[in-house]
Amino acid sequence: MKVFISYSKEDYKFAKRIYDNLSREGIIAWLDSEDLLPGQHRKNTIRQEIEDSTHFLVLLSSNSISEKGYPQKELKMALDIYDQLPESEIFLIPARIEDFKAMPMELKDIHPVDLFSDYEAGFKKILKVLKPEQNKKQHPRSESENECLKAPDLSETPQPFVGRENDLQKIHEALQQVMNTRKPRFFFIQGDFGVGKTVLTEHFLSEVAAQLPSVLIGRGKCAIETELSGLTPFSHFLNNLAKQKGFGSDKLLEIIREVAPAWINFITGFSEASESRASKHSSFSQENVFVQFTNALARIAKTQPVIVFIDDLHWADGSSLSLLFHLAQYLQNCPVFFISAYRPVEAMETGSNAPLFREIRANMIRQGATESEMRIGIDVAGYVRQKYPLNTFPAELVGYAQKITEGHALFVSQVFSLWEDTGVIVSETNSDGQPVWKMAKTPDEYSAIPKTLSEVLEERIRLMEDNLRDILTCASVEGEDFTAQVIARLKKIEEYEVCESLETLERRYRLVQEQGTKQVCAKVADFYRFVHRFFREHIYNQLSKGKRRILHKQMGECLESLYSERSHIAGQLAFHFKEAHEMLKAAQYALMAAQFEQSRYSWVEGEKLCEFSLIFLGELPDNAETMQIRMNIFERLGFGNYYSGNLSDAKEYYSKALSLSQNLEINAEKIADLCDYIAVVCERKGGYEEMLNYINQGKQILNDNSVSFGAIHIELELSWILLQERFGNNNLAMQALHKLLADTDKLIQTPKLEGMKGRIYRVKGIVLWDLSRYMESIVAYQQAISIISRTTTDSIAGILLDIAESYLKLGIIDECLVHIQKGQDIAQKTGDVDLAAYARFLEGEALLRLGKAEEAVNELTEAITIAERIDALWYISYPYATLALSHLALSNIETAYQKVLRGVEYAEKIPYQIIVGYTLDALAQVETAKQDWEAATQHFQRAVDIHQKAGQRNYLARTQRHLAEMLLQKGEKQKAIELLQTAMTTFKELNLAHEIEKTQKVLKKAEVLK
Ligand SMILES: Nc1ncnc2c1ncn2[C@@H]1O[C@H](COP(=O)(O)OP(=O)(O)OP(=O)(O)O)[C@@H](O)[C@H]1O
Ligand SMILES: [Mg+2]
Repeated sequence: MKVFISYSKEDYKFAKRIYDNLSREGIIAWLDSEDLLPGQHRKNTIRQEIEDSTHFLVLLSSNSISEKGYPQKELKMALDIYDQLPESEIFLIPARIEDFKAMPMELKDIHPVDLFSDYEAGFKKILKVLKPEQNKKQHPRSESENECLKAPDLSETPQPFVGRENDLQKIHEALQQVMNTRKPRFFFIQGDFGVGKTVLTEHFLSEVAAQLPSVLIGRGKCAIETELSGLTPFSHFLNNLAKQKGFGSDKLLEIIREVAPAWINFITGFSEASESRASKHSSFSQENVFVQFTNALARIAKTQPVIVFIDDLHWADGSSLSLLFHLAQYLQNCPVFFISAYRPVEAMETGSNAPLFREIRANMIRQGATESEMRIGIDVAGYVRQKYPLNTFPAELVGYAQKITEGHALFVSQVFSLWEDTGVIVSETNSDGQPVWKMAKTPDEYSAIPKTLSEVLEERIRLMEDNLRDILTCASVEGEDFTAQVIARLKKIEEYEVCESLETLERRYRLVQEQGTKQVCAKVADFYRFVHRFFREHIYNQLSKGKRRILHKQMGECLESLYSERSHIAGQLAFHFKEAHEMLKAAQYALMAAQFEQSRYSWVEGEKLCEFSLIFLGELPDNAETMQIRMNIFERLGFGNYYSGNLSDAKEYYSKALSLSQNLEINAEKIADLCDYIAVVCERKGGYEEMLNYINQGKQILNDNSVSFGAIHIELELSWILLQERFGNNNLAMQALHKLLADTDKLIQTPKLEGMKGRIYRVKGIVLWDLSRYMESIVAYQQAISIISRTTTDSIAGILLDIAESYLKLGIIDECLVHIQKGQDIAQKTGDVDLAAYARFLEGEALLRLGKAEEAVNELTEAITIAERIDALWYISYPYATLALSHLALSNIETAYQKVLRGVEYAEKIPYQIIVGYTLDALAQVETAKQDWEAATQHFQRAVDIHQKAGQRNYLARTQRHLAEMLLQKGEKQKAIELLQTAMTTFKELNLAHEIEKTQKVLKKAEVLK
C-alpha cells in the first residue's frame, strides 16, 4: 500500500502532519517535499508515484482548489486512474482541511473526510480505509536517506528529565488530596530562571495524563508581552481546555454560554467593545467576570477533575492575579488543582505587579496553598544517561559540563547542544539503528567553549546559517510568541520557506517550538514560541538600538497590513510603534488597546494603557489631533474608574475630557454625552445638585447647537427623571416620562432606540413604584422586559426583581417569590453580584412578612455580606433596616438598634429619599421598642416628611401606623386613632389588603384600650 498526498504548497504543514502520522502508523506515504529525490524529473516521477499508489489523498482547501499548478494536475492524473477502477474500490480520498462548501465538480460524488474541525476523528476515518490490510511495512526511507539529512532530527527523541523526584512526589501528593477530598488546592513552584519549573510541571502533567486519563488538563501562560492584557492566562486556559481530548469546544462553549457569558469573547476571539452606558443597573464589575469564571470552573469540575496550570505567574497581569485570589477564596467543593510556576525575584521585587503578587501569595499561603522551592541544579551524568543512552563519553567531559554549568538545567542543555553543533560529540548508528554517541574532539577543544550561558547561546547562533539567524532575529522582535506569517512578510520570503526554516530551528536546534495554527481575527496564523524565553531575550538584546527601532517599525507596519481589525493586537502595535519612536501611533494604539481591555472588564489594564498613551502623547507637541486623543483618553479613564468604583477619579477624568472638548471642534452630541456621563457619576456619589447642573449643561449645549431630538436627548432626560425620583419629585418625573415616551415614539425606530425605550419603561416602573402604584409599575416593568428581550442581550434579572418588589408591596408573596427565583437564576448565571444581593434582600423581606424572622435574618445577613464586598450602598442600607426589624420581631432589641443605625448611616451616604425614609422609620420603630420616645418621635416625623414629599403614600401610611403604635404605648390614644384612620384610608385607596388587615388589628387594639 502507498498513499500519495496531494496538496497546495500553502497547506504544506498540514500535508506534512498527515505524512508523519501515516508513517507512524506504518503506512507508506509519498510527499514530494520528503520523497522527491534530487535530480528526479518532477512531473514524470509524480505520475509514476500516483500510478504506483494504492490511494490518492487530496487535501482540499481554498488554496488547492483555486491553484492552477500541481495539485490540479495531480488530481487530473488521479481521476484518470479512478475512472478505470471498479466503483467499489476506494482510491481517491478527498480530505477537507478547511470549512468550505464548494467542492470541485469532479469530486462531487466522492464522500470527503473532514480534517479541520476534529483532526483526530478525521484521521481515524482515513485509517479505517487504509488499515484493513494491516500493512505495517516500514517506510523504505528510514535508513539510507536519514544519513543524507543535513542535521539530526531531534524532534522525536524524548526530552530528558533528570532528578526532581521529591518535587514530583510533592505535587502528586497535593493532587491526590484534591482527588480524595474533592476540594480545590493551589500549588506554587518557585525557582530562578531556567532551573526547570516548566519542565517539571509538564512532566508531572504527562504522568497524570497517562495515569489518570479522566483528569482534564488546561494550560495558560503569562508573558511580558501580555502584562497589560487582562486575564490572558485564563483565556489561554479555556482555549486550551477546549482542545482537550474527552472534552471539546462544544461542551465548553455550552457551559460558558450558560454560566459565564462574559467569557465568550475570550474563547471565540474579539467582539465589539461594549459601550453600554454607565448606570446603576448595569453590572460591569470585574467581580462578575470572576464569579462567572468560578462558576464555569466548578461546573466543568463537576464531571471531571481539572488541573489548571498557569506558567510564569511572575508576569501575570493584575486582573489574573485578582482572579486567582478570587478563586482561592470562592471556589469550593470541587476537584480543581491549580499549579503555577514563578520566579521569585521578578514576581515579588522587580515585577510591575509585585506588591499585588506579594499580598495575594501571602494570603493564599495563609489559606493553605502549598509552595515548593526549586533551588538545586540537575545531575549532568543523569542528563547524559537519558539524552545519550548509548555513549562512550569520558567521565572528564561530563565532569567538565557539571563544573561550568553547576547543574543549571538550561545551561546544561545548551552546552550539550553546542557540543553537538560543533561536532565535539557525534553519533553513529549501530546495527540496531540506535545512535551511539562519542566524543570526537580533544579536551582542549571541548573546554574551549564559552563559560556563560549567554556566550554559549551566542556561539550556537553564530554558527548557524544566515537565514536561520535572520528569522530568529525577526521573531525576537515580534515576541516570545511569533507567527510564520509575520516573519514571511517582514523578510519578504514565502511562508513555506519560513516554515521550513522554523522546522529546522525546532528539530535541529531546539530553539523554537511550533504552537499550532490559530485563527486571529479571520486570519489564519501559524504560531511558534521560543523554547525558552531566554533565547528570545538574548537574541533581541544583541540588536543595536538603530536596528531595533527599524525592525519594530517594520513589525508594526507589517501587523497593520496583515490585520484590518486591530483591536485585539492594539497592545502589540502600541509597543512596536513606541519602540520605533512613532509616538502618535503608539498613543493611538495604546488608547485602542485600553478600550479593548475595558470591553473585557479589565479595568486595571485599561487604566495602565491609558497612562501609557498619555506618556506617549507627552512627547508630542500639542495640536488638535493630540488634544483629541487626550480627550478620548480622559474619557476612557473616566469610564474605567467609574466601573471600578473610583467615583472621584472618574469625575475628575470626565471633567478633564469635558473641558478639553470645549476647546476642540467636536460635535455637540459628544460634549452632551460627556455631561451625561459626569451626571451619572454624580448620581452614584449622591451629588444630586451637581448632577442637575451637568444635565442642564448637556441640555443647553444641545439646544444651543440645535441638535434635533435623538438618543442623547433621551439619555439626558432619563438621567434627569431618575434624579427627580431620587429627590422624591415623583409626580414631576412621571410627567416628564410621558413626554419622553411620546417624543421617542415619533422617532424612526432603530434597534438602539427600541432598547432605550425598554429603559424608559423600566424607569417608568420605578417611578410608579415610588408613587405606590404597584400594579401599574408591574405593567411598566413587563413592557420593559418584552422590549429588552426583543432588542438587546441585556439581562432582565434586575427588572424581574423589581417586579418581585412590587408584588411584595402588594402583599402577593407567592408571586413575589416566583419572580425572585427567576431573577436570581439569571443573576447567578451572569455572575451579577449586585443583583444577587438585591434578590437576597427581597427574599429576607418576604420571609419576614411570612413571620419567618429567623430565616429572614440569615438571608439579610448574606445580602449585606455580598453587598459590602462590592460596596453597593443601595443594597447595604435597605437590608440593614429590614434586618433590624427581623431582630425586633425576635425581641433582640439591642442588636436591632445596632443594625438599624448602620442602615441609616449608609442611607445618608446616598441621599436617596425613599431609602432614607425607610431606614428612619425602622430606626424609630426600634427606638419605640427601647421606649426612647423623644428620638422615635423625631425620626418618625422625618420619615413622614420624606414620604409625604415623595408621594410615597404606602410608606407614609405605614410610618403613620408605626407612629400610632408608639403613641398607643405612650397612652396617646386619640392621636393614634386619628393617624390609623388616615393610614387606613390610604391603604384602602391603594387597595393593599394586607396593610388594611394589619392596620385594622392595631385599630382594634386601640379601641379596646379606649
Ligand atoms: N529535570 C530536567 N532534566 C533535564 N533537563 C531539564 C530539566 N529541567 C529543565 N531542563 C532543561 O532546562 C531548560 C529550562 O527549563 P525550564 O524551561 O523548565 O526552566 P524554568 O524554570 O521554567 O525557567 P523560567 O523561569 O525561565 O520559565 C529546559 O528547556 C530543559 O532543556
Ligand atoms: Mg518556565
